[in-house]
Amino acid sequence: MAPKLFITGGTGYIGGTVLDTIVKTHPEYDVTALLRNVPSNFSTRYPNVHIVKGDYDSTDIISDAASKAEIVVHNGNSDHQPSLQALITGLLRRPTPSYLIHLSGTGIVADWRTPTYLTTLNPRIWSDIHDLAEITSRPQGELHRHTDALIQSYVCSHRDKLKTAIVCPPDIYGPGRGPGRTQSVYFPLFWNEIQKVGAAFYAGEGTNRRSWVHVEDLMGVYLKLVEAAVAGGEGAEWGVEGYYFASSQEASQIEIARAAGRILKDQGRIESEEPMQVSLDQVNTMLGDRMPGLGTYMFAANSRTRADRAKKLFGYEPSHPSLWDTMEADLLACLK
Ligand SMILES: NC(=O)c1ccc[n+]([C@@H]2O[C@H](COP(=O)([O-])OP(=O)(O)OC[C@H]3O[C@@H](n4cnc5c(N)ncnc54)[C@H](OP(=O)(O)O)[C@@H]3O)[C@@H](O)[C@H]2O)c1
Repeated sequence: MAPKLFITGGTGYIGGTVLDTIVKTHPEYDVTALLRNVPSNFSTRYPNVHIVKGDYDSTDIISDAASKAEIVVHNGNSDHQPSLQALITGLLRRPTPSYLIHLSGTGIVADWRTPTYLTTLNPRIWSDIHDLAEITSRPQGELHRHTDALIQSYVCSHRDKLKTAIVCPPDIYGPGRGPGRTQSVYFPLFWNEIQKVGAAFYAGEGTNRRSWVHVEDLMGVYLKLVEAAVAGGEGAEWGVEGYYFASSQEASQIEIARAAGRILKDQGRIESEEPMQVSLDQVNTMLGDRMPGLGTYMFAANSRTRADRAKKLFGYEPSHPSLWDTMEADLLACLK
């Protein structure tokens, strides 16, 4: 019998690339996708993918679909609690153990809420093996903490029935290849703010650093996890230990601003390639309509992580082009 997978967020940047990767690598899997809007070419592109229509608040539909799947790969909105709860409820209805691979993000360890290192280098690099206890007990209010905590609460009480993995990527770059959104979030938001400032920018020293990963390297982690789930869990760690960073490199905000400045000047989109120093107060007002403090998180904070678990279990060796190699294409996609 073909393994049954249920995938959410299949029209998004990450989820769409996950869907495309799984369907193309394993056409033998029986895949169902939750879609609230079905792209017009979806069934032509993925003729064997079943569609369940609904959004993340269609909790009965989600639970029902999850109860029919052995493996759920949940993407799209790392913070939406009702959809996550509905997936878990559905999976727990199954008589046999099932797998939940949930998308989180390294915002959970970012230092954006404390002023100590904002705009400067925080020496702390988080390991998903050595720092796991601290990562999984981050205070409420850290990004993605409430949904990580929801999963962890079930890990303890339903250890034998529900096998979970939390995939926690850093900032992602490179083109996605799903049926919907194919751009990551960072560069469109950065470009939006650059237009208001008039230059690529950094705050303070700009030495704050964040980890990054190419979307295709991230897919390597997803594929290993899905294949391990299909193999009855073999080869991966689940539950308490099922926590996976995916970082491949780091960049500081001033390095990103310098590189972006050169590209945008070459394109005639800004007058000078020289990045502009702005105040922390100014970045803190940026993107506030999306989330208070988002500008500080995106442009002034550190979030440094090391993918120790994927390396230990899967021999994870990121091999796709670097952030610097793809930045021009990522920025050009924003200019269209
Ligand atoms: N991109 C990054 O660098 C990055 C890094 C780490 C973590 N993350 C986290 O990963 C998550 C996904 O990121 P992304 O960049 O893939 O986002 P995205 O491109 O905006 O994709 C979002 C996906 O979720 C679906 N979706 C959102 N709300 C929904 C709802 N209420 N009902 C049904 N479907 C819904 C969207 O469907 P529609 O097409 O119908 O809108 C789309 O398929 C986010 O929570 C983000 O914080 C992102």
